Amino acid sequence: MSGTPDYTMGYGEEYLQALLRVSATTHAAHLLPHLEPGFRVLDFGCGPGTISIGLAEAVAPGEVHGVDMEASQIDLARMFAKRYGRDNAVFHVGDVTDLPFEDDSFDVAHCHNVLMHVPDTQAVLREVNRVVKPGGIIASREMISGSSFTHPDFEVLRNAWDMFEDLLEADDGHPQMGKDLKTHFVEAGLTNYRVSASFDTFTTPDEITFIHQIAQQWFLAPEITEAAIKYGAATEALCDHIGVAYDRWKDHPGAFAAVAYGELLAWKPES
Ligand SMILES: C[S@@+](CC[C@H](N)C(=O)[O-])C[C@H]1O[C@@H](n2cnc3c(N)ncnc32)[C@H](O)[C@@H]1O
Repeated sequence: MSGTPDYTMGYGEEYLQALLRVSATTHAAHLLPHLEPGFRVLDFGCGPGTISIGLAEAVAPGEVHGVDMEASQIDLARMFAKRYGRDNAVFHVGDVTDLPFEDDSFDVAHCHNVLMHVPDTQAVLREVNRVVKPGGIIASREMISGSSFTHPDFEVLRNAWDMFEDLLEADDGHPQMGKDLKTHFVEAGLTNYRVSASFDTFTTPDEITFIHQIAQQWFLAPEITEAAIKYGAATEALCDHIGVAYDRWKDHPGAFAAVAYGELLAWKPES
């Protein structure tokens, strides 16, 4: 999808529209009650920083450091921080498996839809655990593709989710990561945790239009469908069928889509 072998979603304008709809209030609600003014927070895999900026508001006069491997996303994050006057949100280009920070230097490390994209989950958790203070929090919210749905399905829209899962796996990603968070955190020695689940829902006319646009202009764009056909995740006929079904779905009075998430907060052991 990205034109790179590693990051499935790509950095195009169409998928960016999805990232610009997220915020700390709506997408880090499981973490917000645990933040305090003065905290130093890491948002790893921050993308364009729309969540980071809300986290920075919650911890002011503390600071948020956003890290992403993609320079174009960091440029956007810096622009949004400036636009919203959040000078306590600073952004760095970097890899989440090799963070440019001292040991034990953050009160909280947060990520949203990032572990699902990084092949080696334990490498990320080791590195994040290194930079969080003893007693600090590591938080993640990740998609569960298999529990997400587009209704009515017109007997084909589930195939779009399956196609997405196949593509993510072809990039060594983890489409069900939200369900596996507990397994991975326990394996990393983070046994003091709280797990929850939630859905992002799409039912209003604006939300239905948004999903339809993402489906037609991003997911069914030639760059992605050609990759899906190449990986054996779809055929041209299936992609056409899915496109027709999304058009029918948009006009259906009962149109309802939901993306499922698993959420986990873990407290780093004191010693
Ligand atoms: C789906 S986006 C999520 C962005 C943001 N957290 C949000 O939810 O709005 C995933 C982000 O993780 C970043 N990413 C993936 N692997 C990474 C890595 N190894 N190091 C740093 N960033 C990474 C991508 O560049 C992308 O911006």
